[in-house]
Amino acid sequence: MLESLNPQPQDKILQLIAMFRDDPRTDKIDLGVGVYKDASGLTPVMRAVKAAEKRLWEVETTKTYTALAGEPAYNAAMVSMILGAGFSDRATSISTPGGTGAIRQALELVKMAAPGAMVWLSNPTWPNHPSIIKFLGMKMAEYRYFDAETRGVDMAGVLEDLAQVAKGDVVLLHGCCHNPTGANFTADQWTQVADLLEARGAVPFIDLAYQGFGDGLEEDAAATRMIAARFPEVLIAASCSKNFGIYRERTGILIALTDPARKAVVQGNLNYLNRQNFSFPPDHGARLVTMILEDAALTADWKAELEEVRLNMLTLRRTLADALRQATNSDRFDFVAHHRGMFSRLGLTEAQVNVLRDQHGIYMVGDSRINIAGLNARTVPVLAAAIAQVAG
Ligand code: LMR
Repeated sequence: MLESLNPQPQDKILQLIAMFRDDPRTDKIDLGVGVYKDASGLTPVMRAVKAAEKRLWEVETTKTYTALAGEPAYNAAMVSMILGAGFSDRATSISTPGGTGAIRQALELVKMAAPGAMVWLSNPTWPNHPSIIKFLGMKMAEYRYFDAETRGVDMAGVLEDLAQVAKGDVVLLHGCCHNPTGANFTADQWTQVADLLEARGAVPFIDLAYQGFGDGLEEDAAATRMIAARFPEVLIAASCSKNFGIYRERTGILIALTDPARKAVVQGNLNYLNRQNFSFPPDHGARLVTMILEDAALTADWKAELEEVRLNMLTLRRTLADALRQATNSDRFDFVAHHRGMFSRLGLTEAQVNVLRDQHGIYMVGDSRINIAGLNARTVPVLAAAIAQVAG
């Protein structure tokens, strides 16, 4: 049986991890996978996470199953962190293995509810979005998003393409910190998108993987909250990988907002989906997040550290934009300072990206997405000089 399997295409982002590891050069620079690194290149366990782990070890008396939807306190704490107050009568949710698990469950829910629905993706988007949709045999379409000239949002393209959305189509939006471009809607543009999708009768599906990495924990949820307040049905896939730094714990949540009268049925379908795919969701990371969000001192410390992380990335953005101004003697790369989140798409060709890797030991995704957090004060000028050399 297994001899009939064909090789699968490798995930381009994950492939870079291995290529970087196998490169013997000691001055190599990793700007690939979206993992936060501090100035020394480490991905630290956040202080509040360490404290919660210690406390958990002391107080945990059993590892028996929790609930199919996940620990209720986790789901409640996450719904409130993402949406604020006022959604408990409409919010159904399941704890999932990371943000990817939430995206997968959301798409499966769409497939169960509306097998023929079209799922619209921004062009470009995180490559795993189309990959999962294709794997599930669902229909997908793209809307223009990125202006390759300005490296900002192509708003005219967004509005023109989303005007083709049919009633009941699902439109995937990055809640903040667009991956891979780093270019984001302004508040006004979010309103325009919401107006259009409302008029078309679309179902918004928000991927919120970087809350707290852009403009702040509350600010990064603002668009999601606006959409949640306006639309009768919304899907939200959120991740704790980045903002709690618990990547390998696989901690995420899928929230489905619905009519209060449908809540029990929708929740039952979410529970069913978890049961079919993996039964009970992972608990360790979810429990740590709950302990942090339910304890005022731990919450304060976590927020302070998250804010440090965010500000570090903003400083790196500004220093890189300045260094590129100097190195290229132009303002062509000023957009780096205006982008938000972990990533910026530089707008280099694949050939230029390959030269940066082969000749300079600088690793970035083939579409020229860089992970800003992979930089530090020493490597910013190195990157700027290399970019000026290949693209100057
Ligand atoms: C990324 O885009 O680099 C992250 O979301 C990690 C991943 O799984 O691709």
